[in-house]
Amino acid sequence: MSLKSRKNPSKATKASSGSKKSWQGRLSADADAATAELVASLDIDRALWRYDIVGSIAHARMLSEQKLLSRPEFKRIHDGLLKIAADIESGRLEMPIELEDIHMVIEKALTDRIGQAGAKLHTGRSRNDQVAVDLRLWARDAVDGLIGKIAGVQRALVTLAEAQGKVVMPAYTHLQRAQPIVAGHALLAYAEMLQRDADRLADARARINVCPLGCGAVAGTSLPIDRARTAELLGFPKFARNSIDATSDRDFLAELCFCCAMLGVHLSRWAEDWIIYSSTEFALIELHDAYCTSSSMMPQKKNPDTLELIRGKSASVIGSLVGMLTLLKALPLAYNRDLQDDKRFVFNSVTTMEQALTVSAGLVATSRLREEKISAGIDEGYLDATSLAEYLVGKGVAFRQAHHIVGELVSRAERSGKTLSELPMEILRSACGKIGADVAGYLGAANVVKRYASDGAAGAGQLRKQLAYWKRKLA
Ligand code: ARG
Repeated sequence: MSLKSRKNPSKATKASSGSKKSWQGRLSADADAATAELVASLDIDRALWRYDIVGSIAHARMLSEQKLLSRPEFKRIHDGLLKIAADIESGRLEMPIELEDIHMVIEKALTDRIGQAGAKLHTGRSRNDQVAVDLRLWARDAVDGLIGKIAGVQRALVTLAEAQGKVVMPAYTHLQRAQPIVAGHALLAYAEMLQRDADRLADARARINVCPLGCGAVAGTSLPIDRARTAELLGFPKFARNSIDATSDRDFLAELCFCCAMLGVHLSRWAEDWIIYSSTEFALIELHDAYCTSSSMMPQKKNPDTLELIRGKSASVIGSLVGMLTLLKALPLAYNRDLQDDKRFVFNSVTTMEQALTVSAGLVATSRLREEKISAGIDEGYLDATSLAEYLVGKGVAFRQAHHIVGELVSRAERSGKTLSELPMEILRSACGKIGADVAGYLGAANVVKRYASDGAAGAGQLRKQLAYWKRKLA
């Protein structure tokens, strides 16, 4: 069976038909209803059902190879689990919450269906290593899914940068006009952030990809299991060295939460920029109607709600990271039931970012830069002041002096309502005698952008190089 789909139609129910627990040999009293609800995690961990079944099949196969199960017993378990998978997929499997979690639901269904062989499945295994292996299998797929979706947003950014990226727009620092740039350079800044997020996920994947199965409850088992075999069957390149650590380690989930939080923060920065840029005041970008909403009262409104929600979702993933770390803080060795709540946080982190990335890709793909508006306002705000200072440096003026000279010229130009290139030559020359007619090539945003010479700068040549890089990388 495939691990790929994480959708999960069966619902946890309150039905109590024959849900006798596996440990009822030890405990005599049943939990009251409120306690049963507290203890149950079925509503959340049923999302792990595919991974649980795949993990159990690998475990059973290894048990049969180790002669802890007979071949016919293994076959009954294997076929029974596949039938249960089909029933969960179609929403037919009952999931009474008294059974607590998805592991018990599946094991109970198996034992009900195939009898004694089902009761042998848990040999040499505990729910502690079982849930750890399920989570690692889930997290591995989650990482791969997120990396794929990140690439989708990056591709949309590259496509937009290629189509419209040469238009000259202002770069901002402190949200004030700073220096002119080709617009594609700003678009690809987000591609860089997202690439670090993808790389971080890939790094985290290496630590996720370690098999805890066979570590049992905390100390392993006296039975002759083969941990290398289950690791191999589940596609893990190695298995965990220490059973105590492996059954209680959730670093890999905290790390995944951090990756999602950082990604959420990056998306929130992009969303904030585009919310500002799409306003009438900035008018740098036009969002497609499909990603906007209107107002119930003001008929003219076109609101960037999608971007606002993406910006807002960062709160949720930051919260999940804090929740996950707080859950782990000061936990004694080894497994403690607190860990059951890990899923609440990490599932939220991943599903929130999956949704945000899907919508972001569509949003970028359908947006367009408002080239006419951008160009019309580009020579306001003295974006060429730094270029003029660098012109003076070329004439042998020390940069600090050049900075001072240009500062005075800007102040003068501002008083007379002119741009730097509109200042008469005698005024320029009275500020610094080294200014000559060649200064014209340094003034005006379009000229400035042509002069950028350093690697990674905001000119058209550097943009061409970056585009070539990203197209190769994302191909
Ligand atoms: N549902 C539990 C969890 O997610 C499974 C492990 C239960 N183990 C235990 N010793 N009670 O953590």
